[in-house]
Amino acid sequence: LFVNASEASARKIPDTLFGIFFEEINHAGAGGLWAELVSNRGFESGGSFVPSIIEPWAIIGDDSSVIVSTDLSSCFVRNKVALRVQVLCDIEGANICPGGGVGVYNPGFWGMNIEQGKRYKLVFYVRSEEPINLSVALTGSNGLKKLATTTVIAANVSNWTKMLVLLEAEGTDPNSRLELRSTTKGVIWFDQVSLMPLDTYNGHGFRNDLFGMLKDLKPAFLRFPGGCFVEGDYLRNAFRWKETIGPWEERPGHYGDKWKYWTDDGLGHFEFLQLAEDLRALPVWVFNNGISHNDQVDTSSVLPFVEDILDGLEFARGAPNSRWGSVRAAMGHPEPFDLRYVAIGNEDCNKPYYLGNYLKFYSAIKEAYPDIKIISNCDGSSKALDHPADLYDFHIYTSASYMFSNANHFDGAPCSGPKAFISEYAAHDDAGNGNLLAALGEAGFLIGVEKNSDVIEMASYAPLFANTNDWGWKADAIVFDSSQAYGIPSYWMQHLFKESNANPSNSLIASAITWRNETDKNEYLRIKVVNFGSSTITLNISICGSENTLQRSGATKTILTSNSVKAENSFTYPKNVSLVKTMLEEVSEDTDVEVFENMDVGLLPYSIT
Ligand code: AHR
Repeated sequence: LFVNASEASARKIPDTLFGIFFEEINHAGAGGLWAELVSNRGFESGGSFVPSIIEPWAIIGDDSSVIVSTDLSSCFVRNKVALRVQVLCDIEGANICPGGGVGVYNPGFWGMNIEQGKRYKLVFYVRSEEPINLSVALTGSNGLKKLATTTVIAANVSNWTKMLVLLEAEGTDPNSRLELRSTTKGVIWFDQVSLMPLDTYNGHGFRNDLFGMLKDLKPAFLRFPGGCFVEGDYLRNAFRWKETIGPWEERPGHYGDKWKYWTDDGLGHFEFLQLAEDLRALPVWVFNNGISHNDQVDTSSVLPFVEDILDGLEFARGAPNSRWGSVRAAMGHPEPFDLRYVAIGNEDCNKPYYLGNYLKFYSAIKEAYPDIKIISNCDGSSKALDHPADLYDFHIYTSASYMFSNANHFDGAPCSGPKAFISEYAAHDDAGNGNLLAALGEAGFLIGVEKNSDVIEMASYAPLFANTNDWGWKADAIVFDSSQAYGIPSYWMQHLFKESNANPSNSLIASAITWRNETDKNEYLRIKVVNFGSSTITLNISICGSENTLQRSGATKTILTSNSVKAENSFTYPKNVSLVKTMLEEVSEDTDVEVFENMDVGLLPYSIT
């Protein structure tokens, strides 16, 4: 509840009010949240033609010992570029190779963070007419300090062969590189070289420290994958979800021309949905509506774009045996994702074909998925929209003082019709790298957002992340490099608003009571939670401040539920619906004290626990 001066003016804040907006900008994903350590793993940064851009890959050796080029001989049909490494020197036949051999190295995204004791999964594809004897190493930035080394020997790789190597680091260096060397003459082709830490959130590929900073914000939703990134400067460079799913090796990657860098699209449509689920946030998918910054598709030709998006919705929500749902299932997620919001385009309201295109998407989506809430790019805060929508998008980048004085912007917003989604707000103009003044201005604005939360459903700061080595837009909530991260004042400001997201569900109600048992003279605590909804909910319970007095022994969990809400009891089945009691110890092996902290308790659908 947002409590105003009097009880009478209190109102419920939407459960969705504060969330986050992830855009692939400033290397937020590639070289950021996505933990892949190799930059340009497919050697096609810049596109699937040769000569290709192989940077930041570089040569170990010199012109007399190694020649590196690219050709289109890869086994992957959508990313044909492969790296051809011709080794000219040979240790066995007197023609001595420089120390340890020649080859290529990859410095990652401005240095790989390799940490002692941690394990890294290296996968690469290789081909050669000759047997190979490769030395694989993680080293310091100049190649001298060895952090992990191994040898890959294969007698026959005349066809493309997948190699998998597990490397355990014996040292730490946040500025490491990956080396692939050979000491024998011949030609070796490489493609799709990936190095992933084993230690990512849930094994899902998200860098743990950055994921943790997002999770700590308790975001109610995750808007993705952009911003301008979705539009592209040109349509050919826009984010196309179908190019970002399936096995990572087969993804073509693309050049994000607005923010001017290549992404291998390891963080693709599936991974964004997975990220939302891992954050327990509702996904909000912003898709390209046939409009970029410089070109657009005429409404009469937009149908293939509409069908493509319907496929993307089926990928997210379809049954595991549906055409696109089965692709999702094959990627390890048979259950549909909880996708309830989509935005048709980004900042395109005034483009000539926006409305025409919008209406085509709108009617097709509503017909197939009536429950999906659709977000329009047109601002409905000062006058009603002239087209159907569930929400309207509102962006505000301004100075700290103007941000502060905009706290009342929504005081006069229409009370009926679509609600506001303030999907990008920031005191951007005088924020520097992210300063206190900006956070104050934004906090003032957000208090206005809470106050007007009858007409505002969602709000998120922008942008979320910046790698200090590619700081293309300032300020950004979380700043990081290969090994460290910090939140700007605006990040910490958001923590003060995260509890405003009311309950995680409309269908939960809970209480805690204590009472004294007159027989054994003990004091007891009972927590009751009613799950009045159809989904299982995991509730995290901590009982704080009672370490000295609480005893675990005898603690129980009792549930009243059934597999049908219509279930009844009878003389024949008097206990059809009855209490099922288990000892709480069964759910935790923890110590007496810890069992009462951070307990994840599963609440079954339609149950009293
Ligand atoms: O957040 C940075 C950019 O600002 C977004 O890509 C765009 O939507 C807005 O103009």
